[in-house]
Amino acid sequence: MTTRGVREFFDDVSEEYRDTPAGMRSHHVLTARTIEGSLSGSVLCVGGLWNQVDLDSLPPRVTVADLSIAMLHQLPAEASGILCEARALPFETGSFDHIVFPLVLHHITEDDGVAARRCVASALAEARRVLVRGGSIWISEFCLNRVIYAAELLFSPLTRVLLSTLDIPLVVMHSAPFFTKTLLAAGFGEIEVKPIRPPETGPLDTIRPIIGLPWLRVPRLLYPVTPTLIRARAGGPGASEASPGAVPGNVSRARRRPATPDPSASWARPTWHGSGWRKTRPARRPRRGEPSP
Ligand SMILES: C[S@@+](CC[C@H](N)C(=O)[O-])C[C@H]1O[C@@H](n2cnc3c(N)ncnc32)[C@H](O)[C@@H]1O
Repeated sequence: MTTRGVREFFDDVSEEYRDTPAGMRSHHVLTARTIEGSLSGSVLCVGGLWNQVDLDSLPPRVTVADLSIAMLHQLPAEASGILCEARALPFETGSFDHIVFPLVLHHITEDDGVAARRCVASALAEARRVLVRGGSIWISEFCLNRVIYAAELLFSPLTRVLLSTLDIPLVVMHSAPFFTKTLLAAGFGEIEVKPIRPPETGPLDTIRPIIGLPWLRVPRLLYPVTPTLIRARAGGPGASEASPGAVPGNVSRARRRPATPDPSASWARPTWHGSGWRKTRPARRPRRGEPSP
C-alpha cells in the first residue's frame, strides 16, 4: 500500500480533525491564551491557526501557511491563508514579528526520526529567515523525555511501516532539549520552555492520540507526551527590527549571563496561571563599551 503524503492525509482528514475532540482542550486553551497575550504586529502561523484560538484577540495581520488546501478552507475570515510548505516559505526575509508553529513540527518527518530532525532544523532556519531581528517564534508541541525520544528515533523506521499499514504518514515527536539545541543553531536566543499542565486534567482522562484513527481512545497516562510551549527570540542579523515592544535576542550572547527581564517586552506580560516559564538559554547583558542590542 502507498502511504498518503502529509498533504493528502490532511486533505482527507480535515473534517475529522475539526469535529472529533481529542481530549486536549484544556491544554489548547492554556496554550492559546498564552500566545495571544503576547502577539502584536504581523504574525505568521505555520500549519493552521492554534487550537482554541480566540478570534477577538488576534492581531489584524495574521497569515496562515499550510500545505493542505482542505485545512486552509477551514480558516476563519480573520486570517489569510497561503498554500505552501513550512521549509520553503514564500515570504521575503524579515517579513514577520511573530511566527507560530502550532502542533505541526511533528508532522514534518519524511522517512525516519533522523530525517525528521533535519526537517525541523530546516523549518526553524526558514522561520528565522522570515522573522525580523528580535521577532518571536512560538512552538506548541507534544514533547517526549530523552529516554522515550531515543527509543522513538530508534524505532521510527518500524513505526513508519506500521503506520503505513493504516495509510498514516510517520509522526515524530521530539524532546524539549532537541528543540532548544535546534533553535540555537538556527539563530534564536532567549529560549523558554514551558510544559502545559492544566490543573483540571488527570491521568485517566481519555485522549485521542492518533489523527486518522478517531475511534482510538486511551487514558492520558498511556500516552507519554508533555504538551509544551516554547518561545524564543530571533537573534543575529536580520532585515529589520521587530515592532516596538520586542526585545532582540542574540544567540552569541545566549549562553553566558542571565538577562534582566525587560518589562517593555510584549511577552513580559504573563497571562499564565500555572507554574513559571523554564528559561533554558538566557541572553547576557552587553559588556561595558559594547553597543546595546
Ligand atoms: C495536527 S494539524 C494542526 C492544526 C492546528 N494548528 C492545531 O493546532 O490544531 C497539522 C497541520 O500542519 C499542516 N502541515 C503539515 N505538514 C506541513 C508542512 N510541511 N508545511 C506546512 N504545513 C504543514 C497540516 O496540513 C495541518 O493543517
